[in-house]
Parts: sequence; C-alpha cells; structure tokens
Amino acid sequence: MLTSLKVVVGISGSIAAYKAALLVRFLIKAGHEVRVVMTPAATEFISPLTLSTLSRNQVYLDVISEDSWNNHVEVGLWADLMIVAPATANTVSKMANGLCDNMLLAVYLSAKCPVWVAPAMDLDMWQHPATQNNIRVLKTFPSCRVLSVGTGELASGLEGPGRMMEPFEIMEEIGQWVHQKSELNGVKALVTAGPTREYIDPVRFLGNPSTGKMGVAIANSLAERGANVSLVLGPGHVHDILDGIDLIRVESAQEMYEAAKKNFPEVQLSVFAAAVADYKPAEKSDEKSKKTEGEINLKLVRTPDIALELGRMKEDGQVNIGFALETGSGIEAAQDKLSRKNFNFIVLNSLKDEGAGFQNDTNKVTILDDRGNTTTFPLKEKIHVANDIVEYYLKHYS
Ligand code: C5P
Repeated sequence: MLTSLKVVVGISGSIAAYKAALLVRFLIKAGHEVRVVMTPAATEFISPLTLSTLSRNQVYLDVISEDSWNNHVEVGLWADLMIVAPATANTVSKMANGLCDNMLLAVYLSAKCPVWVAPAMDLDMWQHPATQNNIRVLKTFPSCRVLSVGTGELASGLEGPGRMMEPFEIMEEIGQWVHQKSELNGVKALVTAGPTREYIDPVRFLGNPSTGKMGVAIANSLAERGANVSLVLGPGHVHDILDGIDLIRVESAQEMYEAAKKNFPEVQLSVFAAAVADYKPAEKSDEKSKKTEGEINLKLVRTPDIALELGRMKEDGQVNIGFALETGSGIEAAQDKLSRKNFNFIVLNSLKDEGAGFQNDTNKVTILDDRGNTTTFPLKEKIHVANDIVEYYLKHYS
C-alpha cells in the first residue's frame, strides 16, 4: 500500500464526472482518506450520494448549506493533495483567475497542498486560445500541476484531445509523486536566487532585471522532494515559496555571499541561480547625491564571486550547480565557468532564445557537466525546467 494521503477530489460539471467515482474508489482501496467537493453543475452528472458512499465521507456542495457554513479553509488545509477531476473549461478558467463562486473554488483557494488539475472538455473548447491561456497560467502556479489530456472519442462525437486522464493513470501519477516526495529526504540544499542591488546612495542602485523565478522554482522542486532547503533570495517580487523552505532575504552581493557561506558547510547540494552584480560602487553616499551639470564618474569595485569562492571550499560529497546566462550560444563561456567555478554541472540559458532568460515564465536550457556531457532541453515553464535540473542531479550526482 502507498503512504496514506488525505486527498480532496474536486468534481466539476462534465460528462467525465463518472470517472471521478472510479478515482475515489481507487483512492479508498489504496488506503487514502478522501473528501469530495462538487460544483453545482457536477451534481447534474453524478449523484453526491454515490460519492459520499464511495468516499465514506460527507460531500461538500455549498459554502453555506442548510443554515450552516462549510469551512472551506479547514478542508483546504486538511488535504495533502487536491485533485480537480474532471476540470471543465469553466472551472479551469476560474481557477486560473482566482474566481470563487462555489465550494470547490473556495477549497482550491484555501489549499496549501499541491493541486492537480485533470481537464476534460470538448476538442474545440480545449484548443481555444482562451482555455490554452488559462492552462498556461495554471502551470505557472508552483502548487498547480495540469495532468495531460487523453486523445480519442469525445462525448460530442468529435475525435481529438480533451479526454480526462483515466483514473488508473492518475493513481500511477500519485504513486510516482509519493515516491518523489521522499527522494531527497535528509538532504540539505542551498539555493541562491534573484538579483542583487549595489547602492550608490540611499535611493539609487546598480541592479539587473532578474526576478528570481528560476531559483525559487528550483528551491520549490527540491523541497517537494523532501530536501531541507535554505533559499538566499535577492530583493524584489515576493514569490510563491513552499512552506518549510528557510528563506533568507538579502540585498547586496556581499550579504548574499555571507548568507551562502554560512550555510555552505552544512549542505550536500548548492545551486547558484542568482544574478549577482559583479561590481559595486567603491563608495556609497549616505545622502542622496545631487544632480550636477555634466558627466560624473562612478568608480566600481568587484563584489565577491559567491560561486567561485564556495567552489573553492567544496569538499567530497558536495555538489555545486551553476548557471550561465549568455547573449550568444555561450557553450565555450559556460564550459569555462564550469571548470573555473568548480561546478559539477552548469545550466546554460541564452538571451538569443525567445522565451529564455530573465522575467519570462519559461526558459530553454542546456546542461553541461564535468564528465563532458551536453544535454539540451526544449523551451518549458520554469517549474518544469527546475524539475529537469533536479532530476539531472538525482540521476547523475546524488
Ligand atoms: O561569471 P558569471 O556571473 O556569468 O557566472 C554565473 C554563475 O556564477 C551563476 O551560477 C551565478 O549565480 C554565479 N555567480 C555568483 N557570484 C557572482 C557572480 C556569479 O555566485 N558574483
């Protein structure tokens, strides 16, 4: 039997709702606890009585029912996993946009656990740019995972993609996920992420447009697999960072270096994903500098190269992973950094590739390792790029 999980199954109004009954039955047979929440439309396709019987629990239908209030927050927090199956175009759209007009959506917005979405809809609805856009949005949420749709005969009579993933396949996905969750149990990891700011005076700084999304996605991916993660994150946007990650906020390269150095001796794995400023002003003015006519000269001095310094401290049993953001193909530059900074492997991304680099939700990377292997991955959401990097580590270096 699998580890026993607490699973919320969310059912929306599709003909595929009958498959949810089978999913609930499989979950119960596998030893999991199940609570079902249905949208009003779902009850037109399958009876709540069927689902309460199969789940051995009350079925949640309304936020308010018969003068009492169903605590959606409690249901959301109870779950180890929420699976919305089937997820209609309507429910997918509301989930992507944070609408909350039924109990299923209220539970989803309150849930702290991973949420899996099993879309089910007609071919044309599935292929509509609006639906595809909503799916893309859902994929950018760290806690959300969109399960693939099957291709075949649809209820409308059309043939094509749009069928809900089969319940037995969802059970296989759960099995793999449970296995993954413990893959890095007991492993301590350090991740640097985001930009740094080097202040010229109290209101001006040298910086870069890094958002930290790539590094945060790696920290989340490591934590999802059970690693004990310290994330040293530069300034800017507050991210969706998984509970349990030790978050250390810093501003300058020097602060990032000190925080990383402090954690480094304890960790087995370090990922240097931060876009660290290489130079800082030689002097920082305590007062806002006044504008004057003509040019000014700013004297810059080097900041610590965190990856290089910690690469020198690296001992047997420690693995360091670096990043190289280049403007050209960058293979040679990445190879140089790989050996100079003592990385075990380096993740190259190039601004010449559309959708790669800073600020995007996607990235296209090539991994070069210290054994001479080069592996290129297609353009993907940063969450999936993060998983590829962590899986590369697991397969070749753990
Ligand atoms: O030399 P370059 O800055 O391109 O090297 C990139 C790699 O080195 C990245 O992994 C980045 O996080 C790391 N780095 C660092 N400290 C610096 C500069 C870069 O850790 N000061």
